[in-house]
Amino acid sequence: MTDFYPIKVSKVQKETKDCASLTFDIPEELKEKFGYKQGQHVTLKAMINGEDVRRSYSLCSSPVEDKWQVAVKRINGGVFSNYANDQLKEGDHLEIMPPTGNFYVDVDPSASRNYIVFAAGSGITPILSIIKTHLALEPNSTFKLFYLNRNVKSIIFKEEIEALKNTYFGRFEIFYFLTKEQRDIPLLNGRFTAEKIQELTEKVINVANVDDCFICGPEEMIFLIRDSLNQAGLSSDKIHYELFFSGASEEDQRKAAAAVEHKFEGTEVTIIDGGKEFHFAMDDDYDNILDGALAAGADLPFACKGGVCSTCKCKVLDGTVEMKINYALEEDEVAKGLVLSCQAVPTTEKVVVDFDV
Ligand code: FES
Repeated sequence: MTDFYPIKVSKVQKETKDCASLTFDIPEELKEKFGYKQGQHVTLKAMINGEDVRRSYSLCSSPVEDKWQVAVKRINGGVFSNYANDQLKEGDHLEIMPPTGNFYVDVDPSASRNYIVFAAGSGITPILSIIKTHLALEPNSTFKLFYLNRNVKSIIFKEEIEALKNTYFGRFEIFYFLTKEQRDIPLLNGRFTAEKIQELTEKVINVANVDDCFICGPEEMIFLIRDSLNQAGLSSDKIHYELFFSGASEEDQRKAAAAVEHKFEGTEVTIIDGGKEFHFAMDDDYDNILDGALAAGADLPFACKGGVCSTCKCKVLDGTVEMKINYALEEDEVAKGLVLSCQAVPTTEKVVVDFDV
């Protein structure tokens, strides 16, 4: 079932020239439903110029703050991001889906963990939530943050991050990397590169002592850092990452669809949602179950339609599908039959999928 709730925006604040944070007033009766883990995201929905626009944003607040906040960075031509930065005001309402996502490890108050975290630009949002939560609830854990931005002025949440450094003195170190401002330490000038990550692992990061690493940024950056840390000896199960881009381009999706070898034409699809069944037949206009179902009149949850957010996930109960792209589901979830319906191309005559998962 499409689980959106009308929620009041209690605060809109400019964080930088191109980024506004939105704080939501979650009513008492919905607080349990909107309970969340650090690093999770919400899907926002608004009617903008008559169009149903949905976007997922990571919560930058922490559950320990009893607060629900996201940051929306303006994207050139971005319908929702420009609306949020220019038009949305305090007291307005947005339709919001309760938080979801896998970008976290459980808090353990008795643990003494060493975390390293990497973020680029607005990729700081889930990372900030993770930092605040573990520092507050794990008194013996430490963080090292490596945060890439264009220049000092574009650093989102700089004041809050600096305040955290003071509050948790000795447990939280910050390294700002800037691409458009030169400073005295060459290591901190410019983007993350394999050489820089190697230098960090020689001088700043004691890989043997790292318990978990979180990375949020564009795909290229994530994989570069992951591979470099792997090479330095950090195992993959300690590296968690979240893409913040809005998904593959339509062109990439078309190519990925063409690569699905066993696409079945005219599959009879049964959708189970909210305990009810919905039946339709796939036609040539759409290659994936989500688009086919929406066109046939179903009301299903989705946001990015790019294989990133997992809002559209469902479980295959009968038949088979192939996913064009999957940036959101972990291997064990796929092994359990979960798929992203926006990427699921049917490959059998009949397919039954369950959205009540
Ligand atoms: S709608 Fe985001 S992964 Fe399908």
